[in-house]
Amino acid sequence: MRRLRRTPALRSLVRETHLHPGALVYPLFLCPGEGVRKEVASMPGVFNLSIDEAVKEAESCAALGLGGLLLFGLPAQKDDLATGAYAADGIVQQGLRAFKANRSLDPLVLIADVCLCEYTSHGHCGIVSKDGDSYTIENDATLPLLARTAVSLAQAGADIVAPSDMMDGRVEAIRAALDAASCENTPILSYASKFASAFYGPFREAADSAPHFGDRLSYQMDGANLREAMREIDLDIAEGADMVLMKPALPYLDVIRAARERFDVPLGAYQVSGEYSMLHAAFQRGWLDPDRAMLESLTSIRRAGADFIVTYFAKDAAKLL
Ligand code: PBG
Repeated sequence: MRRLRRTPALRSLVRETHLHPGALVYPLFLCPGEGVRKEVASMPGVFNLSIDEAVKEAESCAALGLGGLLLFGLPAQKDDLATGAYAADGIVQQGLRAFKANRSLDPLVLIADVCLCEYTSHGHCGIVSKDGDSYTIENDATLPLLARTAVSLAQAGADIVAPSDMMDGRVEAIRAALDAASCENTPILSYASKFASAFYGPFREAADSAPHFGDRLSYQMDGANLREAMREIDLDIAEGADMVLMKPALPYLDVIRAARERFDVPLGAYQVSGEYSMLHAAFQRGWLDPDRAMLESLTSIRRAGADFIVTYFAKDAAKLL
């Protein structure tokens, strides 16, 4: 076996899995204001950006040849109906218009996350009804708001809408609403396989979206269930999802592999905030080599079967590739 490992050229010739910047998507967190560039404490190198700063960041992403951006928003105000998510002048809608007005960003696919958790006063991904001490995340009452959010983001310029809420039936509702609004060319990237994960912790700081009470276990999947993930993906494809996103990535590589073997739609994996933070914690201590550990983690996700990867390492990785 060692004959083919002898030189870099030989190793390159027989390499089975490749990383390229065009298959990396970089998440951005848009916030109100001007000149704002606020680092997320638990995610070194990741910022809340006002739109002017986000445009600069996007320009450097385009120059690095990244495939696209995944946009999240921190609204100025939150309420029980998440009105900031579907406001015509919502934070992500404004960002999309600014990006679309800048032709140097044309090579980037602009993906808008569709969820209510950054916009609700309670931090849940859907409408909440309370009865004494108990509460319910209302599935069907949430669907029209998600659909409205997706249409509003598509109309503001999103190339793809990506529902991450995990309500049942949302893909069908969003597809119908997009079609009715003449957005029939807007694809849906469904976070079909999304586990209730501790690894989203740092994101909730970045997006200010931690639930104020309870947890997401009644809508996100139990981390123990692979077959259930296949059913989620099956359903979302049947409802009209054009592509599927799976998350987290590293702790769920087996799920990515199983989906790759079973489904022929484009498959993305999200290397989530906690995966980034834990590696950075080790980098800061000098315990792991940053470049090698980063590229090895991304290669493993591609090897498992992901076509593209949403990752906070997108820029750092592109610089090395
Ligand atoms: C919104 C959403 C979350 C993430 C992506 N979209 C947070 C959550 O479900 O609590 C997590 C991404 C990350 O951790 O990087 N629902």
